[in-house]
Amino acid sequence: LIFVLNLCFALMGLGLTTQKLSRDDFPPKPHFVFGSGTSAFQVEGAEAEDGRTPSIWDGVAQSVKNERGVDCCDGYHKYKEDVQLMVATGLEAYRFSISWSRLIPNGRGSVNPKGLQFYNNFINELVSNGIQPHATLIHYDLPQALEDEYGGWLNGKIVKDFTAYADVCFREFGDRVSYWVTINEANVYALGAYDLGIFPPRRCSAPFGISCKAGNSSTEPYIVAHNALLAHASAARLYKRKYQLTQQGFIGFNIFMYRFVPFTNATKDAIATQRAYDFYVGWFMDPLVFGDYPDVVKRNAGTRIPSFTPEESKLVKGSWDFFGLNHYNTLYVRDDLDRLKMKQRDFSMDMAVKLILDWDGVPPGEFPIDPYGTRICLEYIKQHYGNPPVFIHENGQKTFRNASLNDASRMKYLESYIGSMLEAMRNGSNTKGYFTWSFMDLFELFGGYESSYGLYYVDLDNPNLTRYPKLSAHWYSSFLKGGRTNP
Ligand code: NOJ
Repeated sequence: LIFVLNLCFALMGLGLTTQKLSRDDFPPKPHFVFGSGTSAFQVEGAEAEDGRTPSIWDGVAQSVKNERGVDCCDGYHKYKEDVQLMVATGLEAYRFSISWSRLIPNGRGSVNPKGLQFYNNFINELVSNGIQPHATLIHYDLPQALEDEYGGWLNGKIVKDFTAYADVCFREFGDRVSYWVTINEANVYALGAYDLGIFPPRRCSAPFGISCKAGNSSTEPYIVAHNALLAHASAARLYKRKYQLTQQGFIGFNIFMYRFVPFTNATKDAIATQRAYDFYVGWFMDPLVFGDYPDVVKRNAGTRIPSFTPEESKLVKGSWDFFGLNHYNTLYVRDDLDRLKMKQRDFSMDMAVKLILDWDGVPPGEFPIDPYGTRICLEYIKQHYGNPPVFIHENGQKTFRNASLNDASRMKYLESYIGSMLEAMRNGSNTKGYFTWSFMDLFELFGGYESSYGLYYVDLDNPNLTRYPKLSAHWYSSFLKGGRTNP
């Protein structure tokens, strides 16, 4: 079966990469936009400048940055140059995030005028150059002050503070920003930071390879997810009540999504695959669309998952105008129900599956490409959640930083994933835009400076941190400018 599946993927991939793709195949801006993106702590640098205080990522980032002796990518000072690069590339939209601790240094209370000025300047630069801004309110980088004061996302107090921060953003920037994402891939965050303990604040029950702080993987991911949903919903309701009428913008939630494929044709692997979707995607999407967690999640987590009160359920359900999807890879799923027999369980155990990345046939230094994943994910959302508007807010290929500028595999990746998105759209998916991750090589979550997703390479050995286009940047640019492409 694996052989047959692989063959199918390969043939589908081939079909997609040999078709000629053009910008004109998609609806024109503003009905559909093509862009790229980055996030604040991954590109801004200037951590201690102009009143910004640390975020929970600063410590991790700092040790890597000290090792390398540079502060990538200095977006704080180079934003004008970067916007010109976006224009030259032909980007129609740009996704970035606002650093909460730059705008409101203590997490709550007074606004930092210099932080305000920076985001005003940056947004003005985008808008005056015809680039549609998509702003994310939090992309992993919670103010350290709130983590220290009450444990950040673990504490229900975050809802009020996040809403107040969102209010400032809507008030100050909402006249120019029409697309807001409240929280970036909260599913990965809850899992990575509170189950596996690999992302700040690195909490888990048992060390997962590296040392984590003593947490509780069996309850904390669920609590954090619950608070994230409430914080999102509260901010979204505020936007709808106070700003939407005058600002006419849209507010969304962002989800990370794998394509899951059963490892064998046994029924138990098919059930396990649905369970994986329910735990990864349904965990957030079900409450947002239907007002409650999926049954299997509630059943397997038992009393460890918080319940929604009727008021909370009402608040969360429907609190969005669109979904942002971050999609990169496909994983095979094997049933692993034996994990439910363990007494001490955590989120991954409750999911009770084995997830496998298929490396067969992948050349060294490259990562698997399954373009069909975009279509499957978009159609999953369409079928299960009533076809809501979706932006693919992240999609891109990981390589290594010092690979050549001749990133033919990324070019192939982009072309085939965009082609697959087009198929989903022709099949009725309500997709509204595509943003490749990332605009430039940046400080990467796992890989620091060693991983790369960028269209542009950043020369860390040059004090100017010069950006150089890769082949993928040239390809994307010619696609966006109307050329028919066929790598
Ligand atoms: C998801 C995250 O949102 C982004 O910050 C990260 O760089 C990419 N995926 C790649 O890991």
